[in-house]
Amino acid sequence: MNEFVTVKTIDEMGMIAAAIFESEIRKKPDIVLGLATGSSPISLYKELAKLHQEDELDFSKVRTVNLDEYVGLNGEHPQSYRRFMNENLFDHINIDKKNTHVPNGMANDLAQECKRYDDLIEELGGIDVQLLGIGPNGHIGFNEPSDEFSNCTQAVPLAKATIDANARFFEDESEVPREAITLDIKHIMHARKIVLIATANKEEILKKALFGNITPRVPASALQLHREVTVIFSEGE
Ligand code: F6R
Repeated sequence: MNEFVTVKTIDEMGMIAAAIFESEIRKKPDIVLGLATGSSPISLYKELAKLHQEDELDFSKVRTVNLDEYVGLNGEHPQSYRRFMNENLFDHINIDKKNTHVPNGMANDLAQECKRYDDLIEELGGIDVQLLGIGPNGHIGFNEPSDEFSNCTQAVPLAKATIDANARFFEDESEVPREAITLDIKHIMHARKIVLIATANKEEILKKALFGNITPRVPASALQLHREVTVIFSEGE
C-alpha cells in the first residue's frame, strides 16, 4: 500500500476517488477501468457523472470491466450489477455501452462464461485502475474467505455474511442470490493501480486486511503485496 487517506464524509471519499480516476482517464483516454458496485462507490460515480457533465471528462474511449454479477439475475433485474452500473454511472456519461463489461449471470455454462471473462480482460490488455470496496468479512469482488487465493474468474457460493449484508437491497433475505461470478484475486492483483474505498462500518476489517496477516481467510489482505494501492477511508457512513 502506498497511500491511506482518511476523510470525514462519503461525499469527500467520492470526490477524492473521482479525482484519481479523472487524472488517469485524462492521461489515458482508452483506459481499462475495473469497477465495483455496492454502497461505497455511489458518491464516486455521482462525481464522475458530474465531471463528465461540467468538465467534459470524456468516456468515449474508456473500457470497463466489472468485478462481479449475481448468478441467476439478468441485466434488467433491479438488483443486478449490470443495472446498477447503468443507473449509477453508464447512463450519465458518454461511454459506449459496448465497451462496458459485466459477467453474464444468466450464462448456461458458467465455467465457459468465466473463461470468456478472463480472455476478455487479456484482450483488453489487463486492468489499468481497479476500484474495490471491501466486504464485512474481508472479501473483495466476491472472493470470500477461503483456503487459497483465487486465480481465475469463477462462480462462487456467497458467504453467509455477504448474503446478510446484501439483503438490504432485496425485499427479503431469501431473494438474495446464493451464487455470483467474480473476478479473482490474481486479476485484481495484476491491475496496475488499485483504489480501495471503505466507510466507517468497515474500519475493523480494513485494519485486519491492511495490517494483519496476509491470508486467503481475509481476501483483501493480498493487497498488502500490491505496489500501488490507494485506500480512501470515510469516517462517516
Ligand atoms: C461489489 C463488490 C463487493 C463490494 C463489497 C462492499 O461489486 O465486489 O466486494 O465492494 O461487498 O460493498 P458495500 O460497498 O455495499 O459495502
